[in-house]
Amino acid sequence: EQRRKIEDLCRDLIVNNDHIHVVEQRLRQAIDKGLGKESHAVASVKCYSTYVRHLPTGEEKGQFLALDLGGTNFRVLLVDIGENKQFNMQSKIFAIPQHVMIGTGEELFDHIATCLKEFMVEHNLESTKLPLGFTFSFPCKQLGLAEGRLTTWTKGFKCSGVEGEDVVRLLQEALKRVGEHNIEVCAILNDTTGCLMSCAWKEPKCRIGLIVGTGTNACYLEDIENVELWDGDSGEPRHVIVNTEWGGFGDNSELDFIRTKWDEAVDEGSLNPGKQTFEKMISGMYMGELTRQVLVDMIWEGLIFQEKDTDKLFEWGQFLTKYVSEIESDMVGDFTRARKVLEELGIKDPSDEDMSAMRYICELVSRRAGFMASAGITALLKKMDYHDVVVAIDGSVFRYHPHFPNIMRSRISQLMGIDYKFDLMLSTDGSGRGAALVAAVLTNQEQQRK
Ligand code: BG6
Ligand code: GLC
Repeated sequence: EQRRKIEDLCRDLIVNNDHIHVVEQRLRQAIDKGLGKESHAVASVKCYSTYVRHLPTGEEKGQFLALDLGGTNFRVLLVDIGENKQFNMQSKIFAIPQHVMIGTGEELFDHIATCLKEFMVEHNLESTKLPLGFTFSFPCKQLGLAEGRLTTWTKGFKCSGVEGEDVVRLLQEALKRVGEHNIEVCAILNDTTGCLMSCAWKEPKCRIGLIVGTGTNACYLEDIENVELWDGDSGEPRHVIVNTEWGGFGDNSELDFIRTKWDEAVDEGSLNPGKQTFEKMISGMYMGELTRQVLVDMIWEGLIFQEKDTDKLFEWGQFLTKYVSEIESDMVGDFTRARKVLEELGIKDPSDEDMSAMRYICELVSRRAGFMASAGITALLKKMDYHDVVVAIDGSVFRYHPHFPNIMRSRISQLMGIDYKFDLMLSTDGSGRGAALVAAVLTNQEQQRK
């Protein structure tokens, strides 16, 4: 009886085929708006040109530094690409304290520069001149390969004085302040671009890069003639990687028809209310919180964890996205991992009914996320002329959620029909190898010009 009531109350989280079709179609329209000269300013999906036009050939070589900012970890990397695709990478994760994530831009960039300097010292690189690729996973209006203005912070960052500024310049200034003069920031790229490049290095059919991690976003290879705001040269190759910033889809109310009260609650408590609507329904920064919102409602209704100590569950952010992955990793009917999660939350002796209801709610939230991301990929695949495309994917949700890859694979097949072939491929080292490849491709281009 209680289970039936839960299913009833959570019905809004179920998106059916018709919904998904509408999402896909509206997203295609939003992408076209983003690409259009007149409509770009008001588009929710911005479709920024990245100025990356050459996919790697496999011939790239050299030693590069890379920075990875905006995912789960902030990392500094040293990448070596040698003959015959020999590849070597060393990296170090540095913490970014919470107060820095929402402090001043100057503090943030000083912190980054200090970490970079520390890394150089540890690797005896102080006297080596090295090019650096900066994977900066936030929306940027790029003006070239090494110039990108942050349009708006997303996810967990909100530093003052950075929006509207060229982040490459801010980084270079900070490097000077810490006395680091040997680093040349030669490319700024989005993590989706890194993901696509890293995969394309091995798989030439790769034309889309997708991240389902802390945030969600996709990039793809678009013909220059469709990028109405293209201001680079119009020679060969006639395509460029476009960073869609699809996380902002829905900000023009396109998704209101499927948004729930729980989505609204998550949005209201976020650092950027009213923004990144699609991202908030899909990605790891929000998935746990969304699940918590639903669970709390069910507790209020007296339908789950009755007479248990659920105080911790009532606190914002306490239900982590990794819990969703853990709970869904149990075999059906077994609740070993789920019980551990509840122990961490201080909920004692839950009944099997409670466990099963909690799993049901997790599944609703993660399946909806998977369906939405699939609608997004389908929208991109249908835009392409090719009928055999590999999608490079990275991010903690795709990597660690036990069913996410399967959900996406089967849903995209269903949406695309049998005439299309596609493959989803886990991309590794996007922010390291991908950033190095962008830097390397750039160096090649410059050499060709000379
Ligand atoms: C990493 C990539 O593996 O995935 C990063 O190297 C990217 O560039 C990240 O930002 C995204 O996933 P998450 O889960 O860390 O946000
Ligand atoms: C957010 C950022 C975007 C990034 C994505 C995945 O949506 O705005 O630039 O690619 O997160 O990290």
